[in-house]
Parts: sequence; structure tokens; C-alpha cells
Amino acid sequence: MRIVYLNPCGKLGGAETSLREILASVRASQPEWELWLVLGEDGPLARIARDLGVQVIIRPFPAGLGRFGDSGLSLAAVWPLVSAVPATTRYARNLAGLLRELRPDLIHTNGFKMHLLGAWARPRQVPLVWHIHDYVSSRPLASRFLRLSARACTVAIANSESVARDLRRLLPGLRVTAIHNAIDIERFSPVGRKLDLDALSGLTPADAGTIRAGLVATFARWKGHEVFLEALARLSGAVPVRGYIIGGPIYQTRGSQWSVAELQRRADEVCGPGMVGFTGFVEDSPAVMRALDIVVHASTEPEPFGMVIIEGMACGKAVIAARGGGASEIVIEGVNALAHPAGDSAALAGEIQRLASDASLRRRLGQAARQMAERMYTGERLAKELVALYQKAVGAPANDIEPATYSSLGAAGS
Ligand code: GLC
Repeated sequence: MRIVYLNPCGKLGGAETSLREILASVRASQPEWELWLVLGEDGPLARIARDLGVQVIIRPFPAGLGRFGDSGLSLAAVWPLVSAVPATTRYARNLAGLLRELRPDLIHTNGFKMHLLGAWARPRQVPLVWHIHDYVSSRPLASRFLRLSARACTVAIANSESVARDLRRLLPGLRVTAIHNAIDIERFSPVGRKLDLDALSGLTPADAGTIRAGLVATFARWKGHEVFLEALARLSGAVPVRGYIIGGPIYQTRGSQWSVAELQRRADEVCGPGMVGFTGFVEDSPAVMRALDIVVHASTEPEPFGMVIIEGMACGKAVIAARGGGASEIVIEGVNALAHPAGDSAALAGEIQRLASDASLRRRLGQAARQMAERMYTGERLAKELVALYQKAVGAPANDIEPATYSSLGAAGS
């Protein structure tokens, strides 16, 4: 089988980390399959994929398309897309030519822009698998475009049951299967190199006995950096805790993410200057996880899945997650992690405090979390589910979605 994966971004956000494990696990389980990756931007993902034996082609997105994000249906939001139409059309045409040359048996797309481009550019009869990582209904433009293109999609993978439900509500005719992500549990293991987070952040070394709590996330505003900062500011100080913000603004889309300077200013205001460590983006995230005592997930909106939750768990760490969405499919509260109501900094502070002062609770949660990762989040499990889905998709008849379902733009998002 020859599979072509299409991904907009070359940097490692959640959807790219998910793709990395897909490539690694399918490669390991089906060594004779030919895997190709077409990227809309160069970046670390290209090198990682090549190292896995995947053939990588970089076809940079035109600038307007790369920067476009879905922040509503106002003229200001839609204009960048409208102005990018000629360049995007040329891009789609070139992509169609490339796909004809590659002659894939199946195309697997990651990210909205590639879902749409894949639907336009795929050779007829080649099955198209959309991998949906986010709640589509919260993105008005993306919803409308997906609805228009859904007939081209053979089957959609959702990264959680929660995202699958959202997608089924929006596109009732589409076949949707929920497949949880996986991680490399050898790499994300409790034993291994630990990074010096203080040095990385340019802070003086913390006193012995200081508990390190870190939020590992891209700088998207809904990832809850402010909630984390407010929670840190509320800690009583009975046990010394140092907070770290790990990650950076990685997407080109405007408006939806913090800049480093902005977030640093917020941290100074909320917690006091120099109190919170900013490491920047770190590629070796297992070494970050291992350096933390508490891994915090604080998204203020339901998290579609939450890669960092399983990464922290696989490293045997005590994780505090924000309740809701896919995160609630992973966390068994009080057993393999703790949870707090999304956006509630007082509750988050309470859980950080509780864990900071109880080493045996941290250990117990961490052990249960590691066991859960070994049981549920391995590449073997992921490859088994994907290979079955690919084989079914290749043998499936052309999509049987009722055309009427997608006939009207106006019906979208209702
Ligand atoms: C997106 C989602 C995140 C998920 C990741 C991988 O980034 O927002 O929740 O973990 O995709 O599926």
C-alpha cells in the first residue's frame, strides 16, 4: 500500500506529534508499505519523518493561506482567505499534479487546510481519510468548507469520542471513527535524561525541595496559560513551588495565540517578575516531563484529546488536567491523574497545593498513569486500528454520503 499524508505545518504542535506517532507505528507494523508526507511548510517534522523512513516532500503554502486562521466570519477574518484565492488555486492544482504522480492508494490528511486541499486535489477514486483533531463546530468557516467537501472524504478519524460526536452532529452523513492518539512509550518513559528547566529559563537554580509544576502547550490562548499563572499566584507558599511555561507560539495563524513578550508580561503582573520560568519550545519533551514533578493541563475550552496529558502520564508524572472533552476520556480522577473544572484557577491551585505537599500521592498517580499508558497508548494499538481502517477504506465503495446533506452552505453550523 502507498499512503500519502498531507500536513500543513512543519513544526511540532499536537496534531503533528500525533502524526509522528502514526508514521512511526504504521512504519513499524507494515514495513513494506510506502509512506509519503507532503508538508505545507519545512520544519522539524520533515527531519523526524525522514528518519522514520518516510519520503518527505515540502510544498510551501502561499503566504496568505499559511497565515489564515478561523477566527469567525467577519470581513476582516475572511479577507486573508479571499485574497489568497488565486495563489491557493494554483497550489491546489500543483498538489493535484503531485498526487497524480505519486499514485497513492490512500490519502490521509491532517489539519483543515489539508482536508480541503486533499478533497480538491485527490485523484478520483483514491480514498481520502480526514484526521480531525479539533472541534469543528467551534470554527464557523472551517465547518462550512468541510461540509462542502465532505463528499470526497471516505472516512474521518476523530482523536476522541467527544470530537467524533461533534463531527457527527455537524456532518451526519460522514463515516466517523474515534481513534485515540498514541505515544512512543519507550521515549516517554520515567527513566532518562532530565533537562535543567531553570537554566533553560535563565532563572537562578531553585532551592532544594522545590516542586516544579509546568504547563506544556503551544501558545494558543485557550490553552489556559493565564489560569495557570493565576493558580501559581494563589499558592500559599507552605511548600515551595516553581512554575514553568514550556512551549511557544508555533502556528503562523494570527490573533489566536500569545506572543512570548505578551505572556511574559502577564506572568510578571500576576506572579511577580522572574517568578515563572519560560523555557521556549523544547523538542525533547520527555526530558521536560521528567524534570517536572507536576504536569499541568489547563485548557479553558474542552480539550479535543490532550497529547501532553498522555505524555506526562507515560513519564510517570502526576498530571492535573482540565475536565471535559477528550481529556475526560483519558483521566480517571484520583486514580491516574487529578482534574479541575476548566478555567477555575482556585481549584487548580488547590490541586497543585495538594500534590506539592504529598509525595506519595504524586508517586501513586504517576505509577497508575504509566500503567495506563502502557496498556492503552502504545503505537501497536494505534497501528492495529489504523491499518484496519486503511484496509477497509481502500476496499470501500465510493462515498455514500447523500449529496442533499451538503447541498447548502447556509445550513452549516446550525
Ligand atoms: C490538536 C488538539 C489536541 C490533540 C492534538 C492531537 O492539537 O487540540 O487536543 O491532543 O490535536 O490529536
